[in-house]
Amino acid sequence: MKVTTIGTGYVGLVTGACLAEMGNQVLCLDVDAEKIRVLEAGGMPIHEPGLLEIVRRNVAAGRLAFTTDVDRAVQHGTLLFIGVGTPPGEDGSADLTYVLAAARSIGRRMTDYKVVVDKSTVPVGTADAVHAAIAEELAMRGVQVPYAVVSNPEFLKEGAAVEDFMRPDRIIVGADDEQALLLMRALYSPFNRTQDRLMVMDVRSAEFTKYAANAMLATRISFMNELALLAEAQGADIEQVRRGIGSDPRIGYQFLYPGVGYGGSCFPKDVKALVQTGAQAGVELRVLKAVEAANEHQKQVLVAKLLQRFDGNLQGRHFALWGLAFKPNTDDMREAPALVIVRELLARGATVAAYDPVAMPEARRLLGSAAGLRFGERAEDVLEGADALLLVTEWKEFRTPDFDAIKARLKQALVFDGRNQYDPALMRLLGFEYHGIGRGG
Ligand code: NAD
Ligand code: UGA
Repeated sequence: MKVTTIGTGYVGLVTGACLAEMGNQVLCLDVDAEKIRVLEAGGMPIHEPGLLEIVRRNVAAGRLAFTTDVDRAVQHGTLLFIGVGTPPGEDGSADLTYVLAAARSIGRRMTDYKVVVDKSTVPVGTADAVHAAIAEELAMRGVQVPYAVVSNPEFLKEGAAVEDFMRPDRIIVGADDEQALLLMRALYSPFNRTQDRLMVMDVRSAEFTKYAANAMLATRISFMNELALLAEAQGADIEQVRRGIGSDPRIGYQFLYPGVGYGGSCFPKDVKALVQTGAQAGVELRVLKAVEAANEHQKQVLVAKLLQRFDGNLQGRHFALWGLAFKPNTDDMREAPALVIVRELLARGATVAAYDPVAMPEARRLLGSAAGLRFGERAEDVLEGADALLLVTEWKEFRTPDFDAIKARLKQALVFDGRNQYDPALMRLLGFEYHGIGRGG
């Protein structure tokens, strides 16, 4: 099938590449000429495991191409996936400027039947707005061209995006047009072989499902973070509690890891947007408001621990920090807890030496000129003379480091583990003073 992605970011590029991998003819459009230039030159604008290989293979096979030419892009696809950003507006609600601009650019050019697929995370009612925007453009041109708008929210996680797209738990399609549904079923059938994972529902429910999923996951994390604070105060170990409750199939083990707060391009913005949707609909989402407030608090938890350990004064202290990205296996720094932690430490007169396996260029871009901050080329480079090591993002290479070397380089054997990667008993045995999240007991 002929597919166009409008927006070639995390979602658009992964969608385009994975659909090309299944034999479709895919053209990825972006307004960012530099991004398209990098992709056309065989490069990769984001760090996403496995993506470069798929992109290269499909470009070589002639099934995947990139463009900034809107005419060509709209002409190309029968299925046009809108995967542009939906950032928070001033009041926290989703800003649909880019989505509606994409819709209008379709309406201005289409000459034959199109299925317009809302892949971006958008509030209930957006498919109607996209439909109306296209209708308006067609009316201005004085032409009638058939089209359908379907909702197909994306559930991939950064760092595992290709795997998630290729082996989805579910494929949600909100559609009320039979022909569009038929095409969507055909497009997704290669991802849907062993078990029918495609769920068809009405458009508004599909749009709502995406926010409900992210809100539920964010809630689990904030709740666990709060339980961790209490566990610590009561001399219980949240890691044992986590295993204890996760074994109940009604609760399950996933997304129960306490840490330094959730970050990334989606949970923070989608929680805010849903709270705002509630306000507009006259439904106060009290739980979700608390989820957000708890997360803001949690991003400060490592700094609070440092303040407690250093008698309320971090002036002149020097800290080593491992892991800057909002999660492992990505170079994405959007809403990364590390940004809050680094800025807070610097504001309190401390200095920081930081290392991340892939996010340092992005961290430099966001924090670069801050006085008192430097970056190291390797994990061990940042340890020398530090008052403590802070683990913020749980990259695999930090799981079993050379603890003797760490001890030898640090000024004192002090570790603040924001992701509970290390065993407190082992750390004590190795001679470290160890602080985790919720690790009393
Ligand atoms: P992104 O910022 O990485 O990419 C969006 C791209 O769209 C950018 O490259 C931008 O230049 C381009 N763009 C903007 N307007 C355009 C236009 N009119 N025509 C063509 N290109 C245009 O964003 P993302 O992370 O891929 O997220 C996109 C959407 O998908 C958001 O709504 C997000 O909530 C949702 N989502 C993201 C993820 C994720 O893991 N990142 C997962 C699921 C859903
Ligand atoms: C999340 C969802 O998991 C995806 O299903 C969804 O498609 C995506 O948002 C989106 O809508 O964009 P992502 O933000 O890429 O994916 O990454 P996650 O693995 O969900 O992690 C988000 C944040 O939560 C990270 O900062 C991570 O460290 C934190 N987290 C996650 C925890 O603190 N504890 C956990 O148990 C899990």
